[in-house]
Amino acid sequence: MQKTDWHRLFFSLLFTAGIFLLAILLEEQSRKAAAVDSVVQSALAVGADADSGAAAGQTPVVALTFDDGPHPVYTETLLDGLKEREVKATFFLIGVNVEGHEDIVERMAAEGHLIGNHTYHHVQLTKVSDSEACHEIEEANAVLTAACGEVVHYIRPPYGSWQEDLYSLVDMQVVLWSVDPRDWQLKDTDAVVRAVLDDVEDGDIILLHDVYKTSVGAAFQIIDRLRERGFEFVRVDELLLD
Ligand code: NI
Repeated sequence: MQKTDWHRLFFSLLFTAGIFLLAILLEEQSRKAAAVDSVVQSALAVGADADSGAAAGQTPVVALTFDDGPHPVYTETLLDGLKEREVKATFFLIGVNVEGHEDIVERMAAEGHLIGNHTYHHVQLTKVSDSEACHEIEEANAVLTAACGEVVHYIRPPYGSWQEDLYSLVDMQVVLWSVDPRDWQLKDTDAVVRAVLDDVEDGDIILLHDVYKTSVGAAFQIIDRLRERGFEFVRVDELLLD
């Protein structure tokens, strides 16, 4: 082997070693970065745990919601009892039921309750055309706004049936529920109270109907019993904003 060959071999070995060293350094660097990532991720997880821990220490809240009203007698009874207990609730009203009972809707708004749309004729929105669905929603909004003087933003679609494409046609926020004691079927105050109390948790939306005397009676007992458990009552807009 000539002297220049030795030189060439030496430099190529040096070059290979350099590349090898560089590869090790880069590998080490990325391992460190990954380690930092996982530390950041576990910190976030701890942060989330700490948040939910704090939430658990806070006052539990529930929203009472009443569908299908107003009823000329029972809704007034309900409003009296809510006022006495200083509870704000949410009402999803049927447009046609508002006709002739605008004063009840006005009272709801004046006493701080939230008013929502439950269509004009209690139609299943997934069973009608888009234009009919829009008409049902807009007609109900019109009578509600005329009665309470406020723009209505929330809708509870009858039977919980909503079609996604309606979001592009009407500017409404859909509110469903998380506790359903089936009060319309039970029509039994004690059974409705039991069904709610067995099921309720922090952040729940309770579905009731103020068109039944038994449901109005149940609502009062639910409020009194949940207060004993430390619950607070909010409107659905307060629950959804949190
Ligand atoms: Ni309904």
